[in-house]
Amino acid sequence: MNNKQTLLLPGPTCVPPQVLSALSKPAISHRGPEFKSLLKEVNDGLKNIFQTNSDVIVLTASGTAGMEAAIVNLISPGEKVLAVTIGVFGERFVEICRSFGVEVEVMAFPYGQQADPKIIANRLEADKEHQIKAILVQHNETSTGVLNDIQAISKARGDHPALLIVDSISGMITADLPMDEWNLDVVITGSQKAMMLPPGLALIALSERAWQAAEKCKNQCFYLDLKKAREWAATDQTPFTPAVPLLYGLKESINLIQKETLAGCFKRHSILRDMVRAGVRALGLKLLVEDDKIASPGVTTVYVPEGLKPSDIIDSLREKFGVIIAGGQRQIKDKTFRIGHLGYVNYSDILAGLSALEVVLADYGIPVKTGAAVAAANDILRSKKNKINLNLVS
Ligand SMILES: Cc1ncc(COP(=O)(O)O)c(C=O)c1O
Repeated sequence: MNNKQTLLLPGPTCVPPQVLSALSKPAISHRGPEFKSLLKEVNDGLKNIFQTNSDVIVLTASGTAGMEAAIVNLISPGEKVLAVTIGVFGERFVEICRSFGVEVEVMAFPYGQQADPKIIANRLEADKEHQIKAILVQHNETSTGVLNDIQAISKARGDHPALLIVDSISGMITADLPMDEWNLDVVITGSQKAMMLPPGLALIALSERAWQAAEKCKNQCFYLDLKKAREWAATDQTPFTPAVPLLYGLKESINLIQKETLAGCFKRHSILRDMVRAGVRALGLKLLVEDDKIASPGVTTVYVPEGLKPSDIIDSLREKFGVIIAGGQRQIKDKTFRIGHLGYVNYSDILAGLSALEVVLADYGIPVKTGAAVAAANDILRSKKNKINLNLVS
């Protein structure tokens, strides 16, 4: 039992048993009929999850490849983009753009805050010549635990023609993101987050406007050529050898998500978030994101108490309880840790994690009231608005 682990990470997350067993199916030809029907079925399911009529392109690569694919396929060298950053993954978009000769204007908001749609609207309003070709933004900033208001950012464009490129690698399935209804041009996600799969797939959908931009784009790419991927997708195939086992797994995770419903997934993640926030506060710890309204449904960043290092808590949770949480990142690395609550996570995982955290803090001499975190989290579960089927993930 010593190696049993509970992953409370913001990715990779735990994988449900149904998905695990799908991953071990016998090999098939990726040019044969079984694969074609698999890819078709997966694509139909993904369209529902992305809430779009556009095809969802499946890339065998991690999420960052989806971000890179968006840039190299849509933005030519020398063209300008507005990168709206609220943390590490926004900064990654900036690095990708610079690697490909794209001119980046960075609009940085402090770690722990949401991007302000009004400031974005003002900047676009001032861009009379329409030099800004795209706005890059995270749906959920995993490094801080902030959920951006993507609908408001989309509206902030007004009549400006800039494409809106949204990294929803850790946001999709945890919070609503209706791609077509909100006029989003590119939406990217990855397999190892709320999709409940191992790492290895990047999923990306483009609006018709974005496909038109791809036709004109002069940037260079080969493996990540989305136009080529789209041509192959029309024949229910991929241009290169795909990770077939992950696609079998994806079919299974799509089934699970459909069974729970998207609305059910959003609800569960919001309850998990509220439980973690209530529990951590009951232990006397400080949250990076104080404002409940912008708090991520998938990950919560917590300040380490005075006198402790993040590794004290992270290592003790792993060694004593097999509970795996993540460290902070970049500017807040030395003072925070992150509790992930996305994907194949249920309420009892959070109760167990909070309970373990309480013991670890008490062992370090931090004054905590026995059972306080679990009691606060249980209050969330038992509150009127959460009177729902508590065993959503089956
Ligand atoms: C918001 C966000 N963007 C991008 C990435 C990068 O994805 P990957 O590590 O799969 O390349 C991550 C991974 O944690 C993420 O959370």
